[in-house]
Amino acid sequence: MSSSTKTLTIPALLILLGLSCVACSTKPDTPRKAEHPIHPLFLQRASKYDLHRTLSPESMNQKLKSLFEAARWAPSSYNSQPWRYIYGVQGTPQWDKLYDLLVPFNQEWVATAGALILVISRNTFENNKPSRTHSFDTGLATAQLFLQAAHMGLIGHGMSGFDYDKARTVFNLPKDYTVEAMIAIGEPASPKNSTEELAERDAKPVTRKPTSEIAFEGEMIT
Ligand SMILES: Cc1cc2nc3c(=O)[nH]c(=O)nc-3n(C[C@H](O)[C@H](O)[C@H](O)COP(=O)(O)O)c2cc1C
Repeated sequence: MSSSTKTLTIPALLILLGLSCVACSTKPDTPRKAEHPIHPLFLQRASKYDLHRTLSPESMNQKLKSLFEAARWAPSSYNSQPWRYIYGVQGTPQWDKLYDLLVPFNQEWVATAGALILVISRNTFENNKPSRTHSFDTGLATAQLFLQAAHMGLIGHGMSGFDYDKARTVFNLPKDYTVEAMIAIGEPASPKNSTEELAERDAKPVTRKPTSEIAFEGEMIT
């Protein structure tokens, strides 16, 4: 490549990068980096705050079906499938019931989201014996839901900041069901609906412990 081509190419690339960023978000995302080779979807999934609803309620309902389908195929102890999801799409009475459970901090950024999900697990097997793994199984299913959301260009953001007891009462849950978490589902921000504060929060780097601190050959070092 000649030096004149290089000088033309680099600014052109920068302009292109800038344009593509404007098309997706007000600020560039902080790229996540893996220590070892993995599927890019794992790095793409992120609990963004700047999430929105532009889809119609019908389209959102359709997309949610795919998220629950992905959850449905998770492995579970004895194939007991203890996960349950109660959901509501923005603008419906079901949304209101779920939204009212959230703590004020979460209500603030969730207000623009497209759907809310309450995650529940059945803590007994069909034979009514207690299940040791109902939360683990439900976590597995919900991870699949999150990854399917990321694959479809949606954001899934888990939440524990809500009133667990109120959730049990509002949804009349029997004692063999455990309230696990909530999830906000939305679409990524576009410049016209994004706020500076949320975009800044999303631009902050997100880190992880090194694999050497979470996986051990034979003996755990604490
Ligand atoms: C069970 C669970 C509960 C969470 N609760 C909240 C919450 O109440 N509010 C919030 O803003 N984020 C919440 N988060 C999001 C985490 O803060 C986030 O997953 C973590 O910082 C890692 O960021 P990442 O998901 O973008 O990788 C929760 C996540 C999970 C899995």
